[in-house]
Amino acid sequence: MFLSQWASTQFAPPYALQVDDIDPRGVPAHIGVVMDGNGRWAQKRGLARTDGHAAGEEALFDTVEGALELGVKWLTVYAFSTENWKRPPDEVRYLMRFNEGMLLRRRDELNERGVRIRFLGRRDWRVPRRLIRRMDEALELTAKNRTMTLTIAFNYGGRAEIVDAVKSLVESGVSARQVDEKAIRAHMYHADMPDPDLVVRTSGEYRISNFLLWELAYSELVFTPVLWPDFRREHLFDAVREFQHRDRRFGGLEA
Ligand code: IPE
Ligand code: IPE
Ligand code: MG
Repeated sequence: MFLSQWASTQFAPPYALQVDDIDPRGVPAHIGVVMDGNGRWAQKRGLARTDGHAAGEEALFDTVEGALELGVKWLTVYAFSTENWKRPPDEVRYLMRFNEGMLLRRRDELNERGVRIRFLGRRDWRVPRRLIRRMDEALELTAKNRTMTLTIAFNYGGRAEIVDAVKSLVESGVSARQVDEKAIRAHMYHADMPDPDLVVRTSGEYRISNFLLWELAYSELVFTPVLWPDFRREHLFDAVREFQHRDRRFGGLEA
């Protein structure tokens, strides 16, 4: 589907969910989402940027439901980047509190649905201790679940992850001769996480913004103008439909 068609297929709820045309064998095992456009969504309504972040919660949980419905095994969402510390202190503070509250509000329902919650990113001094505690509780509560892994990229940067992997590799005492892709991968934050098959970015921006730089070497990218707070599972299904029309070659030739 061309981007212009994609843009014209936005659904305003209530809509009839339709997944019959999605081939269950071709559902991406791992979907990454850059949840962007909260601020613009709020500004358009004369609201504070932080109201846009709050409205993003429903989008996230409808997307989680949609991913579960499709049988996606890994969903990774970009919640806060290593560059987002540059935002005004009030907005940063709000985001810390908001994520803390969201974990509290949602952990039980995620647990009941068999979702394993994990985090991707640096746990540095800037992340409030209370948020770290909530993260640990969510991790522990859902550790045994395997229906889907929801990875929340928080204080995450793709370059920071590569830097941390190289540091850890050097500290492990390997020689230059032993450094290869497998060795680097083994030192990434979650060595067991498969690369995303599909990455969706909302809000009409055509960039990666430091998300999963190493991992998305061969990911299919889908960009949608929908602002994150308006995103619903039907938009996810549209992205998966588009994914199913792509021809992934990984540098080889068509079959
Ligand atoms: C995405 O929405 C959420 C975060 C980056 C935390 P934005 O806050 O970036 O919203 P826009 O892009 O300014 O509209
Ligand atoms: C990417 O969005 C980060 C998250 C969605 C958490 P940004 O809004 O920070 O990205 P830029 O600044 O537009 O590249
Ligand atoms: Mg943004």
